[in-house]
Amino acid sequence: MVKKDDTRIVGFLCNWCSYAGADLAGTSKFKIPSCFTPIRVMCSSRVDPVLVETAFLEGADGVLITGCHPGDCHYDEGNYYARRRFAVLKKVIESLGLESDRLRLSWISASEGQRFADVVNEFTEKIKKMGPNPLRKKSSL
Ligand code: FES
Repeated sequence: MVKKDDTRIVGFLCNWCSYAGADLAGTSKFKIPSCFTPIRVMCSSRVDPVLVETAFLEGADGVLITGCHPGDCHYDEGNYYARRRFAVLKKVIESLGLESDRLRLSWISASEGQRFADVVNEFTEKIKKMGPNPLRKKSSL
């Protein structure tokens, strides 16, 4: 019997660029893995580290944060805050016993539907090769 792939990828997408890029990917019919769960946030800077930690503690195998390209954030400097926070978050998830590559930050504009699909597919493949989140085995999920 073939075991069902239950890889779980959570994506935090900024409303103004990346979510629109995801929308374009959808209307362009680019393939996105069904294991990808998008969560819309107003800006990449609104991704509280607790949300990322909770996603991993609840069993996400990978977390992708996306936002506007540097210089294009609709709140001027939000993605710069996100980039700094991301560097710290990588260390935090390592302290939880996870590989830091399970967390990725990418800049994707509203016109980059193909890029959105490529980033999600590439990240998903990488996470599948890494295997399940080791914390998931310890949780009840
Ligand atoms: S509004 Fe997109 S990263 Fe800030």
